[in-house]
Amino acid sequence: MKSTPYGNSKSLIFAPMEGVTDEPYRMAIGKLFPEWDYYSTDFYRVPTVGNINAKRVHDHFGARTFQNEELRKKTTYQILTTARAQTEQVVQAVSELNVDHLDLNLGCPSKKVNAHKGGAYLLSDLEELKRIIRLIRSNFKKTFTVKIRIGYRDDSSFEDSLKLFEDEGVEAITLHARTRDQLYQGIADWEYIKKAVKLVNIPIIGNGDIWSVHDVNRMFDETDCHAVMIGRGALKTPWLATLFYEHQNNLDFISDEYLLDIRKDYLDLYFYELEKEYRKLGLDDHNILKRFKSFSRYLFDDYADGEIVRGRFLRSMKLDEFLSHLDRL
Ligand SMILES: Cc1cc2nc3c(=O)[nH]c(=O)nc-3n(C[C@H](O)[C@H](O)[C@H](O)COP(=O)(O)O)c2cc1C
Repeated sequence: MKSTPYGNSKSLIFAPMEGVTDEPYRMAIGKLFPEWDYYSTDFYRVPTVGNINAKRVHDHFGARTFQNEELRKKTTYQILTTARAQTEQVVQAVSELNVDHLDLNLGCPSKKVNAHKGGAYLLSDLEELKRIIRLIRSNFKKTFTVKIRIGYRDDSSFEDSLKLFEDEGVEAITLHARTRDQLYQGIADWEYIKKAVKLVNIPIIGNGDIWSVHDVNRMFDETDCHAVMIGRGALKTPWLATLFYEHQNNLDFISDEYLLDIRKDYLDLYFYELEKEYRKLGLDDHNILKRFKSFSRYLFDDYADGEIVRGRFLRSMKLDEFLSHLDRL
């Protein structure tokens, strides 16, 4: 019998993030913060031309994850496709790999991807959407899920798209509660997550604007969703799942002082472990520094002088200099 996607209930999922959640990043997070129940790869973009083979897809997802049974089982493998891309060939290639869970990215707001009828665009073209969903469903026998927004330009196809997924055998839906046109503006409207939970009989994963343990509790309480997925909040607090499992029933314990205390300790560990993983991949100081700077976007928001602190890290010319600023926190 097939298992429920993302576990039986109330899992915490580290969201797919292009430029972040590649294999070394997932390995580091998996080691430091194993409390995350699931991780996702960033998307593999299905090409329109060129030869497809399982090795190429395998290399994108990362060979070592396939050798680590615990991580492999916790990993969702994501693809992003467009109307004319070679979806069938890629899904057949994925089927040859030891992948238990395939996810289709239907939230991507990129103009280029949308112009080629891919990502969130497909939420406005239900005929094309159905064709692609059927193609994937008929070629992939294990768990197949989608990650969506509430619509493309507006929410007019919201209910129909949810029904379509359910009817076509999609096994769970992650919902980032904004339209494509909203990008990241305003606050995600969790009412849509609540509506989706009532509308279909497959698990709904709530996503959008979860930043704290309190928000995780609130998302579960307000929407009754099956699990939650956290993106920018996980970049800001990569140990959010650890905090949740330790303190979800005692929020008073999580004072601002406590959060800053553990932030300092965890940041040391975070960058130490990430550097180790990137070295294994052969990255040099320059490229590691570039990545570390890109991870710094939300990391210092909790400090009273967060912008100044972040500026120090971002102006670092050398990796050593970047790491030395950790001692000054
Ligand atoms: C830097 C970045 C990269 C992202 N890359 C992906 C991606 O590869 N696949 C995907 O489905 N969503 C991607 N997203 C969207 C997130 O997974 C998530 O749905 C969105 O950020 C909303 O959740 P949040 O409010 O918790 O950040 C990305 C988001 C960010 C910030």
